[in-house]
Amino acid sequence: MLPEKCTVSGPGLQPVGSQEFVQAMGQHASSVCVITTRVGQQRYGLTATAVSSVCTSPPRLLVCVNKSGSTHAKIAEAGRFCVNVISEDQEQIAKCFAGIMGNDLDRFSFGNWHDLATGSPALLDAASAIDCTLVHQIDQFSHSIFIGEVVAVSLRPGKDALLYAARRFRYLRKTVSTEGMGDLESLYF
Ligand SMILES: Cc1cc2nc3c(=O)[nH]c(=O)nc-3n(C[C@H](O)[C@H](O)[C@H](O)COP(=O)(O)O)c2cc1C
Repeated sequence: MLPEKCTVSGPGLQPVGSQEFVQAMGQHASSVCVITTRVGQQRYGLTATAVSSVCTSPPRLLVCVNKSGSTHAKIAEAGRFCVNVISEDQEQIAKCFAGIMGNDLDRFSFGNWHDLATGSPALLDAASAIDCTLVHQIDQFSHSIFIGEVVAVSLRPGKDALLYAARRFRYLRKTVSTEGMGDLESLYF
């Protein structure tokens, strides 16, 4: 039996609409990140969940950034960016860098920022910060995939990452598995 809301797509079939795709991807829980960069003395950044590890040797990751935003061109120009994995107590920073608190606000007025290696702003007390040099840019319609080679990291063990799923910010709920999996932490919303 097909699920309640189901669109089947493929050659000769109806295309999946953007709205349905967005709804389906909304079920994909992600940690919330702030991607930053610096051009000269000017700092830029946006909130993003489209972040993924690519490979570990060499350590590379990717971020997907909308071309219509102001930070996109700055990352391409700077050739560097830092992925800040936002912690649960930094929700205000996530909202600020998403433009939710207004666009006139200096996004860097919240939180404490420092440099790791590239000069891209790294957020103190983030769950982690991953500083990268840009090695590839792949354009996909409205977005670019920026692939970064990791040159420095900082992490705060014990800080839980802020999550985003089904159109809401969410917190981890921790359980300890009793099924012989040690300290494995599971997520339940
Ligand atoms: C939870 C959440 C996740 C987001 N993820 C992304 C993302 O992965 N890529 C992106 O380009 N924009 C993403 N956005 C939207 C940007 O944060 C937003 O458009 C921001 O204002 C762009 O800033 P800019 O114009 O300075 O680049 C996300 C927003 C929210 C609230």
